[in-house]
Amino acid sequence: MCGIVGYVGEKQAAPLIIEALKKLEYRGYDSSGISVLNSEGIFTAKKKGRIQELESMLDYSKIEGTLGIAHTRWATHGIPDEINAHPHLDCSGKIAIVHNGIIENYASLKEVLISEGHRIVSQTDSEIIAHLIEKFQKQGNPLEHSVKKALSLVEGTFGLAVLGTDKFGGPRIIAAKKGASLIIGIGNNEIILASDATAIINHTRKVIYLNDDEVAVLSKDGCFITKINGERVKNQIQEIKWSLEEIEKKNFKHFMLKEIMEQPEAVQNALRGRINGAVPKLSLKIDVNKTKRIILTACGTSWHSALIGKYLIEKIAQIPVEADYASEFRYRDPLISETDLVMAISQSGETADTLAALRQAKSKNAQTAGIVNVVGSTIAREVDSGIFLHAGPEIGVASTKAFTTQVVALALFALFLRHEKGIKDSPELMRELSMIPSKIKEFLTSAEGQIGGIAKEFYSSKNFLYLGRGVNFPVALEGALKLKEISYIHAEGYPAAEMKHGPIALVDDEMPVVFVATQSASTFDKITSNMQEIKARGGRIITITDEENSSIKSLSNFLVLVPKTIEELSPIINVLPLQLLAYKIADLKGLSIDKPRNLAKSVTVE
Ligand code: G6P
Repeated sequence: MCGIVGYVGEKQAAPLIIEALKKLEYRGYDSSGISVLNSEGIFTAKKKGRIQELESMLDYSKIEGTLGIAHTRWATHGIPDEINAHPHLDCSGKIAIVHNGIIENYASLKEVLISEGHRIVSQTDSEIIAHLIEKFQKQGNPLEHSVKKALSLVEGTFGLAVLGTDKFGGPRIIAAKKGASLIIGIGNNEIILASDATAIINHTRKVIYLNDDEVAVLSKDGCFITKINGERVKNQIQEIKWSLEEIEKKNFKHFMLKEIMEQPEAVQNALRGRINGAVPKLSLKIDVNKTKRIILTACGTSWHSALIGKYLIEKIAQIPVEADYASEFRYRDPLISETDLVMAISQSGETADTLAALRQAKSKNAQTAGIVNVVGSTIAREVDSGIFLHAGPEIGVASTKAFTTQVVALALFALFLRHEKGIKDSPELMRELSMIPSKIKEFLTSAEGQIGGIAKEFYSSKNFLYLGRGVNFPVALEGALKLKEISYIHAEGYPAAEMKHGPIALVDDEMPVVFVATQSASTFDKITSNMQEIKARGGRIITITDEENSSIKSLSNFLVLVPKTIEELSPIINVLPLQLLAYKIADLKGLSIDKPRNLAKSVTVE
């Protein structure tokens, strides 16, 4: 997720768009850049780091011009540095583009462009758009048509702004959207374009929400919108009534809730371009035949994903896996050799213990890999190869969308290993994986009310027990962790069968017990016996399941129905009600949900 802005009007563009861009910093801030067009051509400046750093190197008196675009980057392809920062220019320097989204087929387009003599300087997927537009403009097409022709070749998502000059119509910005938001603010003799309304409302509250496959031409003559196929679109101007803070959080009360609700898109992005028939498309440098064992190492929520990864890889790819807390692994002087693959899982890519575990594995000549959200982070740079989550920035301290996308990445990884090992591919699993985003959406669209009701019943409880088996035991751990982190209620996650070896002593009529009991689980019958045991001791049962049946109904005080999926993928769905339950309880207690006490988003100390 990146942020883009553009301006066409009578004011100096540079200071205005930098101010507007700062409002989008929450969308990512590993590097930023600006292009301004004047009679001498396009001036461009880029800088690694926060927008403040770009701003402090700019001398506005030297950047005159009333048309400009700018970008704050959240890297997806290519490390965060000045070359990969946007705007990207074509070979002639007469076209500048900023892009938010992912171009899936960029590698093949890049190859063609290079063979045609284009000089592509960055590692990004975005730069190829500038060169495609250049190619079509050189063939005599107007700028707008060149953009449309370029976009008809790309697969993926885009919120795009192109700064250039049309030989018939003069200087202009062409904006286009598919799968990434783009809003056009209509002011007095000025137009401000941005990824979201936060960057616009200081200037105007009159906006047009660009729809997918629409292209807008922004110039001193106004705003003209057509579809990529040429059909004219009537400008639908609407008035924004939200406050700035509401827009940043997209009207959600907290970033955590926004990130929970964002999971259908986050998971879709994690899958984007990676599902191709029965074999996942991943660029991993792993010698699978040499790999005798895989060690997944991580901290916190990422360690819970690792536990699920162990289950998935052993079942799907039949390679032995260990899931280890990074802090334990690194101090144990573990027995590692070159036949091991050590995979570090980390949202931030900066967690000190996970990084140290990775370095130790490298020093013992193991192969290494990563599953990381933040591109350009230290872990992402130090592993031999890896899988990026593409979940977008996670701002709430309690991890949500990073967890579900990690499990997706691990499922893809397991399927990749299976294929490399020559075991018969599993098209059913791939098919089910591709349906997961819509199942997440199906649940999240209707769940808030019901989970809010359960939260009201239990928010003053002192203890919670979460139970699950098999691949859903780590989900129980994650549910308990979410509750502890943001509501400060003591909670424990346990394998359901282990409950009778200790925790059952705690159960009385004050104790809520959450069962993760989807019926796809091979141990479903065993779980119902565990429920009987709790019920017999007066415990109050909240059941997460995927099919209502009379025995489960009579055992449960509250029943939460989730969409059905296969057992291997059920953690991705089953964790959703647990995230929401923790959120709703913390909200009822009026706590600081996005920044809970004593916790940090990224723990870079040991
Ligand atoms: C902190 C965060 C957790 C996170 C853990 C690991 O404790 O509060 O939400 O799961 O670090 O972080 P990582 O960035 O390595 O996934």
